[in-house]
Amino acid sequence: MQRTVIIDALKSKAFNQPINVRGWVRSRRGNKNVSFIALNDGSTVKTIQIVADLTKFPEEQLKPVTTGSCISATGILVESQGAGQAVEIQLTDLQVYGTADPDQYPLQKKGLSVEYLRTIAHLRPRTNLFGAIFRIRHNMAMAIHTYFHQHGYFYFHTPLITASDCEGAGQMFQVTTKNLYNLKKTEDGKIDYSDDFFGKQTSLTVSGQLEGELGATALGRIYTFGPTFRAENSNTPRHLAEFWMIEPEIAFMDLTELMDLEEDFIKFCVKWALDNCRDDLEFLNQFVDKGLIARLESIINAEFVRLPYTEGIRILQEAIKNGHKFEFPCEWGDDLASEHERYLVEEHFKRPVIMTNYPKAIKAFYMKIDEKESGYNGKSGQTVQGTDVLFPQIGEIIGGSVREESYDKLMNEIEERNIPMKDMTWYLDTRKYGSCPHAGFGLGFERLMLFVTGMQNIRDVIPFPRTPKTAEF
Ligand code: 4AD
Ligand code: MG
Repeated sequence: MQRTVIIDALKSKAFNQPINVRGWVRSRRGNKNVSFIALNDGSTVKTIQIVADLTKFPEEQLKPVTTGSCISATGILVESQGAGQAVEIQLTDLQVYGTADPDQYPLQKKGLSVEYLRTIAHLRPRTNLFGAIFRIRHNMAMAIHTYFHQHGYFYFHTPLITASDCEGAGQMFQVTTKNLYNLKKTEDGKIDYSDDFFGKQTSLTVSGQLEGELGATALGRIYTFGPTFRAENSNTPRHLAEFWMIEPEIAFMDLTELMDLEEDFIKFCVKWALDNCRDDLEFLNQFVDKGLIARLESIINAEFVRLPYTEGIRILQEAIKNGHKFEFPCEWGDDLASEHERYLVEEHFKRPVIMTNYPKAIKAFYMKIDEKESGYNGKSGQTVQGTDVLFPQIGEIIGGSVREESYDKLMNEIEERNIPMKDMTWYLDTRKYGSCPHAGFGLGFERLMLFVTGMQNIRDVIPFPRTPKTAEF
């Protein structure tokens, strides 16, 4: 008989007719007359109840039906007598696909900690919690593609293997086929990459932006959505070595339009979750974070604060004057620590903040230099049109900027920062031929996932996390 997925079975009104469902047993309980099997197939966080009459299915036959086992159950769909579910299935035929030894199956017990589940990441998608998270993850990916497609953006595929360091932070994983046991060096002691696979030194990308700019200055509006890699040794609940990034890049966009886009895009994604992931969000709201749904709803209606960096520093220094203690300094020119960002977002404004016009020295080489002075010391050209979107509990969720479109100014930055230009001529051609104003941003997909699920650790919103010293599964 054809299989019905459980999400459809639960909504079905085809009562007193045969139905077949297949999935993994969450639990089996009962008495000497009847046995109740809670079955889940991943299509929804909900389980369907299967009722076995023990005069037809002797206990012996149901013995392999333990938590974690996989079965095919055929029966008659009926309106449920019990509370908590609309329908149930009266079992007529049972097939056991795979057993799960109760003495060994690690998901036997309820209430296992997320830390423990991380050590069995190969099995955790079978829990209600991770099932919910990964269904939401899928839905957020659909939200992103839908948003950009509806707004006339083209999905532009940028390479994962690259010879350039977009963020200039040197946090790249090398890609090589060289024999590491026998490395040939040049006369001056450097590694000779000329005989490596690509004939030059290559790495995994930290961002698709530079190639994204090539797309935007031809197709007008593009976005990327793919894995990015950072070899930063940050063991925090918000950093991964492999994460997914969404990077729209738009020709003719200015700073205000960029901030409008960032705000509109995030709100669209959050609303999408509320509209499309209701059961999973209700589950998370009940078991993970009682304030989750209210927080998601409040974000949709909140107007994000737009705050120049210089003004932010003023607020932080005012707080210090009034007795607030921070661990790290925050003088003009300092990169804000997460305690500063959290103070602004969670205590001072109590809503998301888009911080702008950062000092040039703490931002990447490609950001457009402000012509206006920042209000700090009267000198112009010290700040850039960069934006970070700061969220409650998460901190930076988006980093973006207007790009410097002047060839000369950009060259100047590249030289001042000693960025190796040899491999960057292709990028500079955007400024050489038909240069245009443009802007873009990068949203960390897992940071968005943290916000939408209420989970506390970024390792729990991606199926198989990569972090320093862990590349299991
Ligand atoms: O601020 P970042 O470094 O900006 C860029 O890479 C730009 N090229 C983006 C652009 O303008 N097209 O990174 C962008 C976002 C951050 O705001 C953060 O959400 C996320 O990527 N991110 C990380 N997420 C998880 N783990 C890490 N190690 C991350 N590093 C950055
Ligand atoms: Mg950033």
